[in-house]
Amino acid sequence: MVKAVVAGASGGIGQPLSLLLKANKAITELALYDVVNTPGVAADISHISTPAVVTGYLPKDDGLKNAFTGADIVVIPAGIPRKPGMTRDDLFKINAGIVQGLIEGIAQYCPKAYILVISNPVNSTVPIAAEVLKRAGVFDPKRLFGVTTLDVVRAETFVAGIVGEKDPSKTTIPVIGGHSGETIVPLFSQAKPSVSIPADKLDALVNRVQFGGDEVVKAKDGAGSATLSMAYAGYRFAEKVIKAVNGEKGIVEPSFVYLPGVPGGDAIAKATGCDFFSVPIELGPSGAEKAIDVVSSANDAEKKLLEACYTGLKGNISKGIEFVQNPP
Ligand code: NAI
Repeated sequence: MVKAVVAGASGGIGQPLSLLLKANKAITELALYDVVNTPGVAADISHISTPAVVTGYLPKDDGLKNAFTGADIVVIPAGIPRKPGMTRDDLFKINAGIVQGLIEGIAQYCPKAYILVISNPVNSTVPIAAEVLKRAGVFDPKRLFGVTTLDVVRAETFVAGIVGEKDPSKTTIPVIGGHSGETIVPLFSQAKPSVSIPADKLDALVNRVQFGGDEVVKAKDGAGSATLSMAYAGYRFAEKVIKAVNGEKGIVEPSFVYLPGVPGGDAIAKATGCDFFSVPIELGPSGAEKAIDVVSSANDAEKKLLEACYTGLKGNISKGIEFVQNPP
């Protein structure tokens, strides 16, 4: 029995993500929460002939409570997306409060749920979530994940284009650090199976992974940021969590977590100087069961990228923590 909740279910990411979750037969209950349009989205999705019983909630009539109570996994794509010229950090003002409110609801109604934060800026919204959960006395670092899978998916796709691999998902590439611009660090030297990227193409490839989101923002020309590829990526991560919780072994995917609270993470936090950081995470029944150190084996070029990552990321993390500790 798995109850999944999507908070922000009526949005550009929320709708296709809800559709993918509805298609997953391991899910028995799917609750869709948003401040608008969930009755319609839920009615539509509920006609799909898979096991999940679908319900839709708005804030009125205790909607948050009813949606979240009993949830095993809550995926959060709520909040505003970028428009051309905006950075993810520009979203902070609005999305910080939205994420805070939703996490307060989780702390109250489903404190044991696995929480997957998609809302940007992930580098700050995940620290906000951790702070809120800590204050409520229910923080379990093994259950809080910032979803950085889209960066991984992009790296797989762009590399396949260069090396001529027909199925991009066959190559595993650790993409670590944070989830915005220079804080995103793909470690192509640790790709499995190994890939040989021509030296004259490497910088452009790294840059494309770091700023791939901008391509979509520009192409959508004011209509938002990545939604369909993000729904795929968010679903891929949610599916892995569900499989791992149900006992499947050997599932690893990078995610932005609170490292000191995840086994193996403390040393990585010390080496990077960042408590919140994305590294490959081994998933299991208790959530994030092991943080895998890929930082110490980065090559020299990647170490240089990591230095830039640490600087930006530390500021983003502090900004999130500060938002909860000293509200504006
Ligand atoms: P959208 O505007 O299409 O949808 C957002 C939804 O959130 C709307 O339906 C809105 O009504 C809802 N919402 C607003 N306040 C809410 C609240 N308090 N409770 C519940 N729902 C609420 O935006 P889109 O394109 O779906 O993006 C959502 C978020 O995901 C943005 O912050 C965006 O930057 C982020 N994102 C993250 C990515 C990642 O890799 N982690 C990639 C792409 C986008």
